[in-house]
Amino acid sequence: MRRAGVWMVLAAVAALAAAPRTGAAPAGPAPEPRAEAVPVDREITILARQYGYTPHRFTVDRGDRVRLRLASVDVVHGFYLEGHDLEAEVRPGAHGFRLRRPGGDGFEDVTEVVFTAGRPGKYRYRCSVTCGTLHPFMQGEMVVRPNTPYRAGVVGAATIGLGLVAALFWPARRRRGRRPSDGPPDAPQAPDTAPRRPWRLDLLERFPWLDRLVRRRWFQVSLVAPCAVILFFFLIAGLFGSPIGNRNIIVTIVWIFWWFLLITLLVPFGGRAWCTVCPIPFAGEWLARRRLVGVRPAAERSKTLREGSLNRRWPKALSGTWLPNLLFLAMCSVSTILVTRPALTALVLALMVAAATLVHAVYRRRSFCRYLCPLNAWMSLYAMTAMVEVRSRDPEVCTTCRTRSCVRGTDGAWRCPWLEIPFQLERNNYCGLCMECVKACPNRNLTVKARPFCSDVGIHRTDEAWMAFIMITLVAAYSVTLLGPWTLVRQWANVTEVGDWGGFALHVALVWLTALAVVPGIWYLASRLGRRLAEGVRPAPAADRVPLGEVFVRTSYLLVPLGLMAWIAFSLPLILVNYTHITSSLSDPLGWGWNLFGTADLHWAPLWPEWIPYVQIPLLLAGLAITFRRGVGIARELFPGRRAAARGLLPHAAVCLAITVVLLRLFVG
Ligand code: CUA
Repeated sequence: MRRAGVWMVLAAVAALAAAPRTGAAPAGPAPEPRAEAVPVDREITILARQYGYTPHRFTVDRGDRVRLRLASVDVVHGFYLEGHDLEAEVRPGAHGFRLRRPGGDGFEDVTEVVFTAGRPGKYRYRCSVTCGTLHPFMQGEMVVRPNTPYRAGVVGAATIGLGLVAALFWPARRRRGRRPSDGPPDAPQAPDTAPRRPWRLDLLERFPWLDRLVRRRWFQVSLVAPCAVILFFFLIAGLFGSPIGNRNIIVTIVWIFWWFLLITLLVPFGGRAWCTVCPIPFAGEWLARRRLVGVRPAAERSKTLREGSLNRRWPKALSGTWLPNLLFLAMCSVSTILVTRPALTALVLALMVAAATLVHAVYRRRSFCRYLCPLNAWMSLYAMTAMVEVRSRDPEVCTTCRTRSCVRGTDGAWRCPWLEIPFQLERNNYCGLCMECVKACPNRNLTVKARPFCSDVGIHRTDEAWMAFIMITLVAAYSVTLLGPWTLVRQWANVTEVGDWGGFALHVALVWLTALAVVPGIWYLASRLGRRLAEGVRPAPAADRVPLGEVFVRTSYLLVPLGLMAWIAFSLPLILVNYTHITSSLSDPLGWGWNLFGTADLHWAPLWPEWIPYVQIPLLLAGLAITFRRGVGIARELFPGRRAAARGLLPHAAVCLAITVVLLRLFVG
């Protein structure tokens, strides 16, 4: 047992040891790390080109005087240094550049700008002049040593790791020592071994107005229809509006605003609440049902298009989320192009609407949403974290229920469109919160409950486990291409403009290989090691062993809280840095020179960019802590015995700790 604990301590110490080294790694023009940081003058010349800077990263010490010169090699670029009240416009071929203090007013022509490096940390410099497709992601990094926020983050992660080890091993030993003298043998169990019943709040009981609202037939359509109108307008904007991403509302709203809203609010608080309002299957569902508001039970028995839908069963071989997993991965492989090309975004959305309509015509109910929609893959995964759930109030009532209206439908409610069995729901994964079962139940036994964050912990399927691997890989990959300083990777990803198909193929191959093989491979090894550690000195007889596949799949849940928090940390700079694109494009949605609300010409300025790391680090650490907390519960279900569970969890915990450190490095290191 002690040997097993050493694993975790070693991992934590390794992470600690890595902190100062990586934090102080000399990069860019800094010649060598100095032991004593005596402030010196640093002359740095930065070349701007589509879409990056050379050097892409440079390091200075706190107190250094930085003499910065700027030049452009192709078109007019900007240079906005976070946290330094410094913005410049750089023209190709010009001697010097135009400098502006965002806090002050007006531009002045200068040949260099001098400032003193102040508060330690990582500051990004970004292009502030729209210079082409990938302009919003043109950036580099200045690190002011010592990078205290990053080090604090790594120390924090290591401390959480040590805390886990302490929580796993220490109390067990203490209790064992106390047991003989403590109380009668039939004393109640220690509170941490008895499964605690987590709180639930029946929202429909607590808020009668909500209850009345969700029981209205028009509830869902009144949410979906406006979204459908907006989607239609976005498609027009995408096809006929400005081809420049950050000037077209389809890009600014869908990829910046919607994405942020989804990942930070809708999913963690509402689960699949997006699916309740999603306009993509709107047309298909309408055609299949032939009703917008009312219910037509005949629609579900129809076998011809004239009556509604062919209502076929989705092929079994294609069910599960493998297809959405791969479609999502494919969509993400081209996402750098997708999020910067309005017409392509419109095309993809239109294709999804067409596919949904077609699937509704042929297959029963929401087969598209469950088996084809690429968003379903990660929505189903992260909906497990949501703080709401649709569940039965009293399971007893459902066992004696004769009507099974939630499954069969009634004259006043459709049967579950999501092909679920509502009264047996135990996880949020495939519940689209459409409220049909709430309406259908004659006993008023189905309701919406609020609950603690990350309450569903049961991943039981390989396809779901792989989604967890895919999502954790993608957040790291996106942090490299969209938030990182590396121009080359962006060139590869921006293949349709640059034409480096070899680089693009390499980039895609790396992401696919990592998501589908490397991360799962590491997880498999961790599972093997974990099971071995849990068994103790001698391997258990084959019959008593927990199946390795079960360990692998169940523990993959550990990547869910961590992954969601990482996605939130990733999305935060996206909106804080680009929010003026949203306000501008609201006034001029098509990029045609309109100014509806007077915000079209707002000068681009990021919001509190220098404070982003101080939110990202706590988010990642919170993700790690929740991961460990849920991991303990999962390990106790997998491996009988408290100590076995503790040892079995260690390898996966170490992997999660390593992932956290990698993400910290990408975000703030
Ligand atoms: Cu360079 Cu915008």
